[in-house]
Amino acid sequence: MSASPHLDQPSLGELVAAALQVRDHAYAPASRFHVGAAVRTRSGRVFVGCNVENASYGLTICAERAAICAAVAAGEREVVAVAIATDLTDPARPCGACRQVLAEFGVGMHVVLVGKAGARVDTTLADLLPDPFTFADVRRGQR
Ligand code: THU
Repeated sequence: MSASPHLDQPSLGELVAAALQVRDHAYAPASRFHVGAAVRTRSGRVFVGCNVENASYGLTICAERAAICAAVAAGEREVVAVAIATDLTDPARPCGACRQVLAEFGVGMHVVLVGKAGARVDTTLADLLPDPFTFADVRRGQR
């Protein structure tokens, strides 16, 4: 049995579909690289995000972090799975900043990376970001 009732193939398929759908809403005039992300929380809810760029380039928000912010704003803090969709044939891996932000809400989460023509890679955040920095480290180092 899987660690969560939300990690079966139909549930992951639904998450992938949500990520593919929101990828079309990416606002990426600078890079023209569209990313969609969907997170599933322990309660079973799904939240989506896409990358949102800005003429002041450094203000860009990645899709994964947008999805996490939507979940947290809705009162959800436990993420069990994330699907990330790009247009690459070999699906893109999430950037380091997004790995760190995802880890804040589920170090053990399942990660599905999807790309063009049904390309799919299943992995875990633990594989993508082993040994993350956490608030436990902050607490240990506080003066
Ligand atoms: N991007 C994401 O949305 N997520 C990632 O994990 C990597 C990069 C976006 C940021 C920018 O809008 C575009 O992809 C190119 O870097």
